[in-house]
Amino acid sequence: MTVHAHIVGWGKYVPERVLTNDDLTHMVDTSDEWIRTRTGIAERHIVAEDETTATMAIEAAHEALEMANLRPTDLNLIIVATATPDHAFPATACLVQDALGATHAACFDLAAGCSGFVYGVGLAADLISSGAYRNALVIGAETLSRITDWEDRATCVLFGDGAGAVILQANGSDGGILSSLLGADGSGGDLLYLPAGGSRHPASHQTVSEGQHYLKMRGREVFRFAVRAMPAATRQVLEEAGLTIDDLSLIIPHQANYRITDASAKALGIPKEKVFSNVDRYGNTSAASIPIALCEALEQDRIHRDDLVVFVGFGAGLTWAAAAVRWSAPLPTMPLTRRRKIWYALSYRYAALRSLVRRFVRWLAARFTKE
Ligand code: UT7
Repeated sequence: MTVHAHIVGWGKYVPERVLTNDDLTHMVDTSDEWIRTRTGIAERHIVAEDETTATMAIEAAHEALEMANLRPTDLNLIIVATATPDHAFPATACLVQDALGATHAACFDLAAGCSGFVYGVGLAADLISSGAYRNALVIGAETLSRITDWEDRATCVLFGDGAGAVILQANGSDGGILSSLLGADGSGGDLLYLPAGGSRHPASHQTVSEGQHYLKMRGREVFRFAVRAMPAATRQVLEEAGLTIDDLSLIIPHQANYRITDASAKALGIPKEKVFSNVDRYGNTSAASIPIALCEALEQDRIHRDDLVVFVGFGAGLTWAAAAVRWSAPLPTMPLTRRRKIWYALSYRYAALRSLVRRFVRWLAARFTKE
């Protein structure tokens, strides 16, 4: 029997605090008019002091698990796509695993810039189709506000924070992820990068004073790359699924700039309405943008059973990725019963307790074991 990967759960989290274009005009020399006309962005969400990529990823994962009606222990794989992990190591995916109590899951982070979420979906779908895994949680989560130079008007107006997640599940029925493609061109690595903090330029007084821990971007070049990569990847992933643009119901593209998505729609010869956009309210949330947009498209009833949806992203690397999805999840999904809600709340409490006990046992072992 051929096994397909179906999306059976989804969820998102965006921080409460909203930073508007007007707020930015008090921080740098910019205007609401410039930001709106050049990017389509009106506002973005910014984390609170105690929030991180992992805390947002965990919130999105809670929603996705509850939607899929799965227990955390049903997960076999957790991938967190991010350019802003909590630490270089351990992987943010491990922090998510611990908080969920997903004790049977393999975990790793995936660094493919803004294409990371679609890379994760493609990879997880292939691993599921191979029979290696049954339930995979793929998260895109970013805290870009922590690597943004708030004095650089060319970049600080663009980015926002947030997280989105999906659960892919093995199933013998047709549909789900039909095809995916992942691409890269490392020669464009210097167009969008974080210079310091890695092994090339470890953190030092000098790197900090020079602002080398902030992201740098050559916007115009990335723009040119994006308007070529998005339509090409969309066409190719449909072709691999044996489909054409005419079969398409909706594109969920990486939300970076409405001019990029409009140009892509034009290049593909499809109406703008077939390209989902929410960049106005979130800005560019990198790897989180597509899963957040997917959740909103579902909330707005823009996706129906058997629709053909394409996820397509581009970003640092340079990278690009696309996935063609025959939507197969039941819609509308049933709201959680009170009993089930309580069950989930208790299971996360149990996970926190379990983590504490394991740390304590390790502490005891270190203190009292002679070696
Ligand atoms: O997630 C993947 C990675 N990122 C992207 O997808 C970003 C792709 N690039 C873009 O979206 C666009 O290139 C930007 C939105 C970043 C910039 O738009 P642009 O139309 O390419 O503007 P530009 O960089 O060519 O700058 C035009 C002018 C410049 O002034 P001069 O040199 O013409 O006098 C900039 O200094 O706009 C100026 N400018 C600003 N003015 C007001 C740049 N940033 C701002 C600003 N407010 N925030």
